[in-house]
Amino acid sequence: MKSINRLKEEHRIIERGMDLLRYFCAQLSHQQCVASNDLSMLLDFFRDFADKWHHGKEEEVFFPFLIKKDNHLEQGPVAMMLHEHEQGRNYLAQMRQAMQQAKWEVFLEAASEYLTLLSAHIQKEEQVLFQIATIYLDNDSDEQLWQQYHHLEEAMGEAFYSHYAAVITALEERYLGSKE
Ligand SMILES: [Fe+2]
Ligand SMILES: [Fe+2]
Repeated sequence: MKSINRLKEEHRIIERGMDLLRYFCAQLSHQQCVASNDLSMLLDFFRDFADKWHHGKEEEVFFPFLIKKDNHLEQGPVAMMLHEHEQGRNYLAQMRQAMQQAKWEVFLEAASEYLTLLSAHIQKEEQVLFQIATIYLDNDSDEQLWQQYHHLEEAMGEAFYSHYAAVITALEERYLGSKE
């Protein structure tokens, strides 16, 4: 099911961003300075790639597909996922503000909440929602979702994905050592 695999692949990239955020938090909690340009780039990644690009697909295409197949899902699992997307946006905004004001305690608190939320969120999607989706997805609907993802991606710009994939790779090489 390529439409599900696409979301899973994006989760793996988001998790690489989460590892980088953990690294920055460890530095900050040991009173080490961090390069604010790089941290800012990482926050941009979560705002643009994790939220706009990935959650955008879920909210515009994937969740509506599930609700169309079973409207009981709207009040349960899908409502919970939407709420968690919103909570994530709030934590991100808190991190951004704390970074700009150099309030690192506040930053660490928000980042810790964000990381806990996002890893549980990804797990719930993969273990519950993606499993439900495989019941309803046939080849035609899989292709339709794939095309709808593609339209959203086109609207955001071709370079969007490659830019953020390159950002994550560059930050990994700088801070975590090459993964090659
Ligand atoms: Fe999600
Ligand atoms: Fe997701």
